[in-house]
Amino acid sequence: MKQFLFASVALVLAIAPLSVGAQVGIHPQPDGTSWTLQAGTMSYRIGVNEQGMLQTLYWGQRLGATIVLPAAKSKPERASFDPPTATTPLEYPAWGAGLFTEPALKVGSPNGDRTLVLHFQAAKIQEGVLEITLRDEVQPIFVHLFYQPYPEGVLARWSVIENHGDKPYRVEQAASATWNLPQGEGYEASWLTGQWGAEWQLHTAPVQPGTLMIESRRGSTSHQANPWFAIGRTGETTETAGPVWFGELAWSGSWRMSVEDTALHQVRVTAGYNPFDFAYLLQPGQHLETPRFFAGYTAKGQGEASRILHRFQLAEILPSHPQIKPRPVIYNSWEATEFAVNEPGQIALAERAAKLGVERFVIDDGWFGERNTDHAGLGDWTVNPAKFPHGLKPMIDRVHALGMSFGIWVEPEMVNPDSQLYRKHPEWAMQFPDRKATLGRNQMLLNLAREDVKEYTFTWLDKLVSENDIAFLKWDYNRNWSEPGWDTAPAQANGTQNPDAQKAIYVQYVQNLYEILARLKARHPKLEIESCSGGGGRVDLGILRYTDEVWPSDNTDGLDRLSIQYGFTHAYSPQTMAAWVTDVPNFLDRRSIPLQFRFLSAMQGALGIGGNLNKWTAEDMSTATRMVDFYKQVRPTVQQGELYRLRSPVGRETSQVEYLSADGSEGVLFAYLRSQQYGMAYEPVRLQGLAPEAIYQVLSLDSAKYKGPEHVSGAELMESGIQLGLSGDYDGTAIRLVRVGAKE
Ligand code: GLA
Repeated sequence: MKQFLFASVALVLAIAPLSVGAQVGIHPQPDGTSWTLQAGTMSYRIGVNEQGMLQTLYWGQRLGATIVLPAAKSKPERASFDPPTATTPLEYPAWGAGLFTEPALKVGSPNGDRTLVLHFQAAKIQEGVLEITLRDEVQPIFVHLFYQPYPEGVLARWSVIENHGDKPYRVEQAASATWNLPQGEGYEASWLTGQWGAEWQLHTAPVQPGTLMIESRRGSTSHQANPWFAIGRTGETTETAGPVWFGELAWSGSWRMSVEDTALHQVRVTAGYNPFDFAYLLQPGQHLETPRFFAGYTAKGQGEASRILHRFQLAEILPSHPQIKPRPVIYNSWEATEFAVNEPGQIALAERAAKLGVERFVIDDGWFGERNTDHAGLGDWTVNPAKFPHGLKPMIDRVHALGMSFGIWVEPEMVNPDSQLYRKHPEWAMQFPDRKATLGRNQMLLNLAREDVKEYTFTWLDKLVSENDIAFLKWDYNRNWSEPGWDTAPAQANGTQNPDAQKAIYVQYVQNLYEILARLKARHPKLEIESCSGGGGRVDLGILRYTDEVWPSDNTDGLDRLSIQYGFTHAYSPQTMAAWVTDVPNFLDRRSIPLQFRFLSAMQGALGIGGNLNKWTAEDMSTATRMVDFYKQVRPTVQQGELYRLRSPVGRETSQVEYLSADGSEGVLFAYLRSQQYGMAYEPVRLQGLAPEAIYQVLSLDSAKYKGPEHVSGAELMESGIQLGLSGDYDGTAIRLVRVGAKE
């Protein structure tokens, strides 16, 4: 093999003047051994060392036009127990040559060799993407690493593993990337876990020697952990200041993310396909692509890290980017009627909803097949004639006449054993031979990895949307995988079935799901889709490329939602965060919260209503109308503005969030009081991000709760704060700010 003998002297890299100040750039060092990537306020630098290994050189604050950094150099052996492979911060560590830390790649070769030693081969820059090719010393395994910088301050990384040989190879572990933080101690990691009804719980803990592993083995993203991380420095990083290295994996199947602090205090984050039960056979000429792993850096704290992700999602990820459409105010009938849907009942609700200013009416579960309970009907996607004797058309026409668009619930990847579809095609359900299938909510998964199931699913969805004027699909997914069999998986080249071939289900299923969503979007460009999975079980940047919003939780309690939404916004934009006002006592917590507080809670994202409007009093209707009207005034700021989490609701009696429009001309503050204690007055709320010299008009939702002046300077709002008259239990209010001019 070619030896790499690069001089290990400091290199001075002058970045081409053309790119200075540009938001993104990929700058190769003239001798082709290192590259600096600029993404917004972040720089990232990699280089090939004297052993031909690709290593991380820098990840942090954007560097100036002239960069002086040491050239890549492998770390020495640390005693005889840790060879350079284990001590050098490799960009894509493969298991081999004594790598004892988390590998990004592990491949089994036909001659029994299970290691790889990847060496630099080539680099090219094309259409804003840097591609670095590595290859194994002896096996014909090539690995292409991709780097795509985005102006919002995010770098995408992913890999493609290729078999250039004439025999099959077995990929046993494949991550998208390894991100190496600057060597040292004193880091702290934040991550999100949860369960059904309690997603988005934020944790922060010191990074200690060892590995923090978060994952899903469930076949989808999961409620239990989300593929997002943020790492700061203990004592330095807060919501408003300090360094944060952060990222998220764009994959809606089983995934794993490790934050590893090695014995030498090198912190590395590796994420990609979950290696549990994983294998992917690469036939000659075949390749495997890993999901995008996006990451960024800011010196301005956790709040700015979230805002970078939010801006990035709006500008680069969501289906309608970069011209993001506002989320309409929706009504959804699920909590009101559950499966008891029918034409007159839904029309009655639609009429009430329209009076409140609702813009989209959504029928939830129960409209199809024999779907009267959750025991039957999934798979039979024809309108139930007893419930809608004339089809959906009269219902949709009435909704349109009321000035609303129409949406409908589907759960395309599932089947009840008690359904015509299952009776006709039992082989379409995901299962192992001779083993009893484990049911979840009385349903099984359809094996979307199968070509026939994929085509069938696309076809009925396309027909449903083509034959009816449907603006929105609530796409649900109400269980996880238990018997991930795929007996018709493509066989080996010699015609024999290899059990490992079935494991490609972990990749193929999700790719087929994405393909169906992409084809539906292409055929129906105005169609909007929500990713729901019994709440927030499938929220990630993979699905968000095809879906316009997500359902963060089935928990609609106005108080629990404050904490759920607080966690959610660390990783995802308020634009994507659907939130409904539902009835009290809440079905989960049996808590009764006043209607205004419930609205203020749901107004933090994309507002919806899910209560039984037939039971709402005239006073409820009038409160709701006022709240919907206020929401529409602040909607662009909430959905597409900059979020400031002023005070966390977790474990607190008071909390606040603020949003500012991108141009700074508008702001909105939502303030909450869970329970007043000892007669204490509500603390002044100090705003953030305003122009100190500007004057803002303060428009209060409730005149009784704000008695201050109508015009206040940004400096005063940020320094002395705004005094609100909140008292008692479950009190809350909102303030709209409109910038009117500079201070005299
Ligand atoms: C899931 C969803 C709910 C509702 C039900 C319908 O639980 O999260 O919002 O749609 O399914 O069965």
